[in-house]
Amino acid sequence: MTGLANADAMTEVMAVEPFTEALAWATEVIRAGGLVALPTETVYGLAADAASPSAVRKIYRAKGRPAHNPLIVHLSDGSEASRLAHWPEAARALAAAFWPGPLTLVCPVREGRVADDALAGGTTVALRTPDAPLMRAVASNAGALVAPSANRSGRLSATTADAVLTDLGGRIDLIIDGGATRLGLESTVLDVTGPPRLLRPGALSVEAIEAIIGPLTSGAGEAHQGLRSPGLLSSHYAPRAGLRLDVDACDVRPDEAFLVFGGAQSPVSPERTFRLSTAGDLAETARRLFEGLRTLDASGAPTIAVSPIPAEGIGLAIRDRLNRAAAPRPSPHPSPTAAEEAL
Ligand code: TXA
Ligand code: MG
Repeated sequence: MTGLANADAMTEVMAVEPFTEALAWATEVIRAGGLVALPTETVYGLAADAASPSAVRKIYRAKGRPAHNPLIVHLSDGSEASRLAHWPEAARALAAAFWPGPLTLVCPVREGRVADDALAGGTTVALRTPDAPLMRAVASNAGALVAPSANRSGRLSATTADAVLTDLGGRIDLIIDGGATRLGLESTVLDVTGPPRLLRPGALSVEAIEAIIGPLTSGAGEAHQGLRSPGLLSSHYAPRAGLRLDVDACDVRPDEAFLVFGGAQSPVSPERTFRLSTAGDLAETARRLFEGLRTLDASGAPTIAVSPIPAEGIGLAIRDRLNRAAAPRPSPHPSPTAAEEAL
């Protein structure tokens, strides 16, 4: 393969099957210090060698990500965790219950195991073993992988290879197309350096976590303000269109697009309507959320009205992403550059 990690180079796209071919190619690019977008069960991740300072720097450049926002390290297997981090009892219990899966655990890092830039100057590392056979196999071949969501910084996460290509085409070496991701929403991020504390609601519900380790020290509401997770900035997951949340069908304005939860009649045209889940199912809604926002954003409507979505289970994480997408931005239709500066 030629032209690895060259910003001018073409971005190759290949299918996840045959698996051995995808694995060999992805491994080669990672070993050469390049960037590969890989599917996970949550969203696509932009992977690089976690031990390589230059590969890590390429991730920040390709995404336009602020240097103060650290990266999640993805492991081939949970048993790797104690090599990279001091591994508290709560982490042990949670990993046993939920790994591989959509839970990220922030622990004190062991010095020298992860490139400094990936930690953004901090003394902790975020770890997760994804439920994604290809990514785990690449990590098993090439070592632990840093992998933020595979989108331009501050924009919507990508749940399809097409969405990755739209955001990062020409800026990364390879995209492995594994189809639409199964869960569609990023992992839940939990700080376990002290009493376990929610930093980012995500695809694993707080209720499921609390069933294993008891009540968390604070609710999701505090995670909005606490900013102990540097990625939790107000304007994030931003489509170009403005967002209006908790809008009933009868209050949608004629020039708006409508992101519908449940079976309500839409007052706007089919091109400007995206149905998250007619049955009102929250897992289906999570899976289709980013696709829905991207689709309606492309319709050209200045504003997307969004149905009320219940704040229970994974609904908490869905509402979190919508609130961030609706957060004030520098102008009603920021360019990617302006949105990045807002971070
Ligand atoms: O599902 C996911 O988590 C996806 C897939 C690809 O694994 N990844 C993902 O990465 O969403 P990213 O970089 O888009 O979001 C990671 C979040 C950010 O809010 C970041 O600030 C936080 O995790 N984070 C990473 N390392 C941290 C640390 N050491 N302490 C606190 N927060 C951390
Ligand atoms: Mg992200």
